[in-house]
Amino acid sequence: MVHCSFLLLAWILAFVAPLPSFGYSPREDERLIREYKQQLELNHAKIARDLVHRANWAAVGSISTNKIVEGYPMVNIISTDDSDSDGKSTGRIRFLLTDLDFTGPDWEHNNKVTLMFSDDQTLNCQKAGKDPMEPTCARTMLSGQVKKINPNDSSYQPALDAFEKRHPAANNWIKAHNFYLCELEIRNIFVLDFYGGPHQVSASDYYAIKA
Ligand SMILES: *[C@@H]1O[C@H](CO)[C@@H](O)[C@H](O)[C@H]1NC(C)=O
Repeated sequence: MVHCSFLLLAWILAFVAPLPSFGYSPREDERLIREYKQQLELNHAKIARDLVHRANWAAVGSISTNKIVEGYPMVNIISTDDSDSDGKSTGRIRFLLTDLDFTGPDWEHNNKVTLMFSDDQTLNCQKAGKDPMEPTCARTMLSGQVKKINPNDSSYQPALDAFEKRHPAANNWIKAHNFYLCELEIRNIFVLDFYGGPHQVSASDYYAIKA
């Protein structure tokens, strides 16, 4: 993504300027340029993959079908996992849904959801003294459609086994029969990992990252 350097600077100042004074400081300039160069080297697809793999859950947004807040954006927490049988990242985000929760009825009515993962879910930002809203506290928003995984598919059991390894409670959810395993069919990925606005990452670049 090409940046307008003026907008970038304004964006940086909005977050980092500690004083209302805008006096010129060569040292501050140097620091901003150094950070900007570091940012150019960030691998946004890799950052998204790492955030997805480290987290045990995602915040999920859907358009509500609940009568009380119909048409509003609804948010929820879903337990997620993207591991293969060895626990390695695949990038394929799987989760269990039920019609008894918010997200289940919503996607069946309007199959558009967005999942968000933040580096503060593992307290990485807090430990580094970064506010979760700072762009340097990395986050990724993945939009797409929910796809039910057919229990007859050969990929179903390995995916469920990996999921239950990370979420032992899921074993009971499955027994209750009203949960079904899903995967996100990714339409778009945004990654915020530095000042200057979100980066767009294609699903193919995201999946191409080697774990
Ligand atoms: C799975 O396979 C069984 C047996 O062949 C079949 O009856 C069932 O409809 C299949 N389920 C789906 C969701 O395709």
